[in-house]
Amino acid sequence: LIVDASQASARPIPDTLFGLFFEEINHAGAGGLWAELVSNRGFEAGGPNTPSNIDPWSIIGNETNINVETDRTSIFERNKVALRLEVLCDNTCPADGVGVYNPGFWGMNIEQGKKYKIVFYARSTGPLNLVVSFTGPNGVGNLASTVITGSASYFSNWTKVETILEAKATSRNSRLQLTTTAKGVIWLDQVSAIPVDTYKGHGFRNDLFQMLVDMKPSFIRFPGGCFVEGESLRNAFRWKASVGPWEERPGHFGDVWKYWTDDGLGYFEFLQLSEDLDALPIWVFNNGVSHTDEVDTSAVLPFVQEALDGLEFARGDPTSKWGSLRAAMGHPEPFNLKYVAVGNEDCGKKNYRGNYLRFYSAIRHAYPDIKIISNCDASSTPLDHPADLYDYHIYTGADDMFSRSTTFNRVTRSGPKAFVSEYAVTGKDAGQGSLLAALAEAGFLIGLEKNSDIIDMASYAPLFVNANDRRWNPDAIVFNSFQLYGTPSYWMQLFFAESNGATLLNSSLQTNSSKTLIASAITWQNSVDKKTYIRIKAVNYGASAVNLKISINGLDPNSLQSSGSTKSVLTSANVMDENSFSQPKKVVPIQSLLQNVGKDMNVIVPPHSFTLLDLLKE
Ligand code: AHR
Repeated sequence: LIVDASQASARPIPDTLFGLFFEEINHAGAGGLWAELVSNRGFEAGGPNTPSNIDPWSIIGNETNINVETDRTSIFERNKVALRLEVLCDNTCPADGVGVYNPGFWGMNIEQGKKYKIVFYARSTGPLNLVVSFTGPNGVGNLASTVITGSASYFSNWTKVETILEAKATSRNSRLQLTTTAKGVIWLDQVSAIPVDTYKGHGFRNDLFQMLVDMKPSFIRFPGGCFVEGESLRNAFRWKASVGPWEERPGHFGDVWKYWTDDGLGYFEFLQLSEDLDALPIWVFNNGVSHTDEVDTSAVLPFVQEALDGLEFARGDPTSKWGSLRAAMGHPEPFNLKYVAVGNEDCGKKNYRGNYLRFYSAIRHAYPDIKIISNCDASSTPLDHPADLYDYHIYTGADDMFSRSTTFNRVTRSGPKAFVSEYAVTGKDAGQGSLLAALAEAGFLIGLEKNSDIIDMASYAPLFVNANDRRWNPDAIVFNSFQLYGTPSYWMQLFFAESNGATLLNSSLQTNSSKTLIASAITWQNSVDKKTYIRIKAVNYGASAVNLKISINGLDPNSLQSSGSTKSVLTSANVMDENSFSQPKKVVPIQSLLQNVGKDMNVIVPPHSFTLLDLLKE
């Protein structure tokens, strides 16, 4: 590998190149990053008609001592369904009482010493005497409990109850119970249980959030994906239904990935997440097109207005109609929203172009600085409409992905830049996250880095999977109620975390193995100690070790230092190896100190590996 370290041929890499794509898929948000423990907290998941299914809530007691149904007596206008518990027993109630429990998302993780904020709304015909508790599986064991009492007159109207439970033991598979032994009728609505300790109190599960921080993402695209489109428009994600007080959000059934979300993680929270990650938000909105139905361009204006209102919500003055709602939610300052995507994977749809143009001209007029992303891939055919960026999605086998490291070499240097907003190796090469997939993706990303004069952004997809609900394989981060690990593709992406805003050095690989070997060189500065490094990344996609001879030209020969220089290698015994809850670090980078650093060096690159060298510059 010959590297030209002089500035003559160097080129800046966009600050935005590597970021994240978050989609509400695989319970990534509900039952994942969003730390709310209760699922279906407003009893709306069964639909607006009552009586309805209260799943996953279950009844404690039997028909002789309790009758449970839903009715439409909630005080919240957008979600009228409430739970009605008619307690039939009195002295005859079981000692532990009767009532309901919520198992959360495949069991709540309740940890000894941690505090949980419980909020719910209640109304009753008589004095209230309600035990609120976390128990172990099957209701066995008491992890934390409190008794909520109040006179009949106090609870004769809907009343908000707030309490903190501190766990005295740990269960990974806990449930929240609300029980009583007092005869009468109780109504419950909007029952929430959330750990007090979330990231900055913003509701993000700390361990999952930290995995994102470690990726140093420059942007986060959200909230989908197909989730934005919906199988049908009636079930698409609509931002207005996801903002304001959480109790007033109707929630919705995401009919592509087939699960209910209470929309606690709504548009505001996505913007907050971006800010907390110091990443630019990229808002994907519905353009009047779903998987199965489309709004005609002549009728798309209300959708355009909805998008404009969403921009006002994010950026508008706190006195504006929608900006004031943002301010009321605790964020008077505007969010730094500068990118929007008009739809997701809709380019081939009948009304896409017509609809797109309506969105484009309205947004361009109202917000000239906002960059607008088209779903139409301009890498092979020039766009027939204006755009600042275009989406490029690629899900494929490993060999094809690796070979696509050169795809953008052939793309025209003029026109809008590419946003590789979804990429991943899928199918049998990937399993549930193999080393092979990560290596092929690493090769592809090196190709993107080298072509970052025409590629502004790239993000892997999907980001998260709750192991209890795998709707899509593979994913970057796997978790359950209390465990998590990164797949090899997650760790591979960490090798690119310092590329944002770095400088690409001209490098050329002289090899007979160009089909299995790819390398790049950048210089980057550590923002903490301000030291500068030359970073060389090499993917050996082949089954034999390679002796990589590196010559770095254009540098003072003594300016590279062994001390402080490191090597990190992502590899494993078998190319199909994966991480798992039992072996979360089977395939992770191993870092070592680098000896004999100099202008000319030899490095053995193991078979099926991704190697990173950070050479400290004086
Ligand atoms: O990432 C999973 C899905 O793949 C996304 O929802 C969609 O955009 C793509 O088809």
